[in-house]
Amino acid sequence: MAALHDKFGRAITDLRISVTDRCNYKCVYCRTGNEGALYGDLPFSDYLRMARVLVGMGITKVRLTGGEPLLRNGVVDFVRGLAQVESREPLDIALTTNGHLLADLAQPLKDAGLSRVTVSMDAVDPDRFTRITRVPGGFDHVLAGIRAAKRAGLGPVKVNGVLLRGFNEGQIIPFGMFAREEGVVLRFIEFMPLEEDRTWSPSTVVTLDEILARMAEYLPLVEIPRGASETARRYRFEDGIGEIGIIAPVSHPFCGHCSRIRITSDGKIRTCLFSVWDHDLHAQMRRGASDEELAEFIRGVVQKKEERHHIGEADFVHASRTMVHIGG
Ligand code: GTP
Ligand code: 5AD
Repeated sequence: MAALHDKFGRAITDLRISVTDRCNYKCVYCRTGNEGALYGDLPFSDYLRMARVLVGMGITKVRLTGGEPLLRNGVVDFVRGLAQVESREPLDIALTTNGHLLADLAQPLKDAGLSRVTVSMDAVDPDRFTRITRVPGGFDHVLAGIRAAKRAGLGPVKVNGVLLRGFNEGQIIPFGMFAREEGVVLRFIEFMPLEEDRTWSPSTVVTLDEILARMAEYLPLVEIPRGASETARRYRFEDGIGEIGIIAPVSHPFCGHCSRIRITSDGKIRTCLFSVWDHDLHAQMRRGASDEELAEFIRGVVQKKEERHHIGEADFVHASRTMVHIGG
């Protein structure tokens, strides 16, 4: 089958599958504190079929997301199934998790075929961490998860920190120190308007320029090359110890190089984080579509992929789902 391209000529090579929209954290910038599961999830065999069809269409990277993906029983077997999907080049299988349940699962996930893991951690100070996640005692679990992932060889382990003005921008330098001490890539993320309670405004965003300026007060940074469709700009510390990344979708959008497509936990395709509608792939399966028909449906959907997001512009329209129901 021919590789997938959208109408702007972008090759679609990265698939993100959300395997549940449940989450055991209630991060202040994401959740209002409700249960989180609004759309539910599908049997893993359904995601596996979708992935198999998409890999046949040119997908080379699959990232599992949530909600919190490690809440799903059977996720290790799902990774094993993905690792066995026939593909032209070895499939890069990654997972984004809050890390709470990772310590015990890191080695089994690695053994099943997971390539690497990204852990979301929005503070390196335990009290501040609890204030953000609203779940007491989580910090130690997450730290143990990060260390277990490193030990299991799920590297380079990346740690995502969403920065919120007035909440955790004081963590920029401590995050830098953490990256150096723990040997992880700390990626700062600019806050995007995808939260449940709509508190976002341009002034809540701690920008790439600010992060760089703050970190330079601690140690000089040197920018290093990155892949064209990578979300993060990459920097190493000048003394050679440690790497950080900055994901700046607000101040430096990267839509022009977007290679991503998403499947939600309930089997819908989303062509952009900020899509105002989604496309029901699972309904096609329920009505008995063949793999060829699914591929045809996907090809049509990809043609509708949005050119770019409109964050901060007068014509911005909120996405039809919030982050916990998309998967990041
Ligand atoms: P690797 O490059 O494989 O390490 O993964 P990644 O950076 O794509 O994955 P991760 O789940 O760590 O995503 C990091 C963050 O980048 C997400 O949480 C989003 O905040 C942001 N991001 C990812 N994809 C997109 C996108 O398509 N558009 C925008 N605006 N932001 C995105
Ligand atoms: N803006 C930016 N990043 C976000 N994430 C969750 N909500 C937002 C938001 N509104 C991050 C999570 C996780 C990744 C998948 O997305 O912290 O690391």
